[in-house]
Amino acid sequence: MDIEKIRKDFPILSRIVRDRPLVYLDNAATTQKPSAVIEAISGLYRNYNANVHRGVYLLAEEATQAYEDSREAVRRFINAGSTEEVVFTRNATEALNLVAYTWADANIRAGDEIIVTIMEHHSNYVPWFRLARRKGAVIKIVPSRKDGELDMDAFGSMLSDRTKLVGIAHMSNVFGTINPVREMVSLAHTRGAAVVVDGAQSAPHMKIDVRGMDCDFFALSGHKMLGPAGIGVLYAKSSYLKSMEPFMSGGEMILRVTLEDVVYNDLPWKFEAGTPNYEGAIGLKAAIEYLEALGMDTVEAYERELTEHALRSMKTVPDIFLYGPSDPAKKGGIIAFNIKGVHSHDIGTILDSEGIAIRAGHHCAQPLMIDCGVSAMARASFYFYNTEQEIDMLVKALKKAKEMFGHVA
Ligand SMILES: Cc1ncc(COP(=O)(O)O)c(C=O)c1O
Repeated sequence: MDIEKIRKDFPILSRIVRDRPLVYLDNAATTQKPSAVIEAISGLYRNYNANVHRGVYLLAEEATQAYEDSREAVRRFINAGSTEEVVFTRNATEALNLVAYTWADANIRAGDEIIVTIMEHHSNYVPWFRLARRKGAVIKIVPSRKDGELDMDAFGSMLSDRTKLVGIAHMSNVFGTINPVREMVSLAHTRGAAVVVDGAQSAPHMKIDVRGMDCDFFALSGHKMLGPAGIGVLYAKSSYLKSMEPFMSGGEMILRVTLEDVVYNDLPWKFEAGTPNYEGAIGLKAAIEYLEALGMDTVEAYERELTEHALRSMKTVPDIFLYGPSDPAKKGGIIAFNIKGVHSHDIGTILDSEGIAIRAGHHCAQPLMIDCGVSAMARASFYFYNTEQEIDMLVKALKKAKEMFGHVA
């Protein structure tokens, strides 16, 4: 990977913030965009903007084709069997809610059990919590072990014939743990449970193969993988999508409406009511093409090196505690930490004064914060455009933060 060349593809990376070159280490929140994505979006508005699936004129045909080409790009990227199984949503959150309000709402009853992991982002926890409350179902939570990996023994013993749904973060947005989804899917399937994989953090950083994984649902967000905000994807096996009621209704999701009846559209459009975010889809296609040109295996290997370097060098900060697996082979490029005597928000503020952007707070994973006995953590998260030098700058700034605040026990 020619990082200097790659960095030139991202105009924002040459920004000066607080009189320093920007060091952007908040990639788990959202990623920066290459010129190819920015230009794909402006190209739409400059050349062929029209509403999709409606007009009979050339611009409408071109916009529709570009929108559907993006669906094919997503299919290829996640190795789905058919574009029928690729539903565009606003983000991963909407994709997960779609499952909660359609399939799960129709199939989960009082006394049924839903298993999620302690590592879930609120997006893959709150919809199930609300569903369980509505239905009188029971939520069970797979704990993590001390080493930041899931307790698979506990998972095995929680599964039963009452388990109807299992929700798993493919990669934790706090610990960075890469969870053994393939094994969990196959265990869940032996009990007949459906499996929802939250791929918001994994899809940007590693090769995804939904068919190999055999998950029933998989959610991702475009903005976390170089694409624009406001576009996400729900992959679902067509056998599920066929049996599901639409999520939203109105234009676009119907084949025919009469005074007596409504006939739903074919897959996947049955789940895409209203004018879709075709701008977002077109940007996402450019993002996918960019990632494919780099190669997801290359992205993953480079980020693993960065993570190894970060784990090693961050440990040299006095009184730092790093959460999640210490083995870089077990995690993605996300490192959550606390420094004794320094509040994570103060860490964030000091780093900001050095031009370094990280995240501080509960990371929309409050059950995990409770489990770790803290209310907040700081988090640095990397992407393939980051460098070891940037990590060294982070470590230097963390040492400075410790010096400034760390005398307070
Ligand atoms: C693991 C995980 N799941 C889901 C989400 C939700 O993504 P979005 O806000 O794009 O819907 C996030 C966002 O941080 C996440 O990290």
